[in-house]
Amino acid sequence: MKKPKRNESIFKTRLSKLLRTKKLGKSIYVFDELDSTQHYADSLPNNESLHGTIVIARKQNMGKGRIGRTWISPEGGLWMSIIIIPDFSISDIIFTQFIGSLAVADAVFQNTKINCKLMWPNDILINGKKVCGILTDVNAENEIKKIVMGIGLNANIESASINNYLTDDNLKATTLREEYGKDIDLIILINSILERMEYYYDSFLSCGNTLEIVDRWKEKSDMFGKKAIVYDGNQHVMGEIIDLDQNGAMLMKLSDNSIRKIVYYDNVSLH
Ligand code: BTN
Repeated sequence: MKKPKRNESIFKTRLSKLLRTKKLGKSIYVFDELDSTQHYADSLPNNESLHGTIVIARKQNMGKGRIGRTWISPEGGLWMSIIIIPDFSISDIIFTQFIGSLAVADAVFQNTKINCKLMWPNDILINGKKVCGILTDVNAENEIKKIVMGIGLNANIESASINNYLTDDNLKATTLREEYGKDIDLIILINSILERMEYYYDSFLSCGNTLEIVDRWKEKSDMFGKKAIVYDGNQHVMGEIIDLDQNGAMLMKLSDNSIRKIVYYDNVSLH
């Protein structure tokens, strides 16, 4: 693989000057082009000092989506991975997903006054269309575990450049440019995302209690009461989304009134 050129650009300097976070974004890698910021972040050796490192690419050639999907990542979008060296049990991984989604929704609101809706486990929607996806990869090969949280936010791009390649017909893509009507400064947006993320991450760690995050997430989701399908290998189960439990699992009521817990790795789509 060609070694990516590290772009110590104006982008990085502006972002570092703006950031007031304690840890997130303390080390920043910016590239003009990468296969995937997830892969790059994953290739960095696991050690404590990596916590908060961010990797940004202007464009990705092999962006990675959830469940093995490809993530179309043309120039103008916000393609970023954040490294977290967890101070919590990996079994609580779903909360990093919630923290990321809440941070993006808050940042979009701060900068555009648009209210996003959250869809379990990793989608951020505007007007029923997907504007952002979050991907959480875990590298647990060493004693020091590493979580790489990828944020793919369709910012200053056209949805046609993505929708033409989508395989999931249930959810169309949109972009901030189309919903907000103009382009947004990516550096200001990244700054807001990292500040909000640090706020949620610190409160998650300090309270040791996940209720605030679950409650905030529930407030911002409009999934409850909707019909959904969970794909389980070749089988699929249909039901109604009724709640999110304290551990972050989604609860679905099936036709026989039994409750099925849906966990992070399940593939769910709204019907
Ligand atoms: C999803 O499937 O909804 C998650 C998409 C996550 C895409 C982002 S873009 C930045 C980071 N690098 C990748 O290759 N993927 C994630």
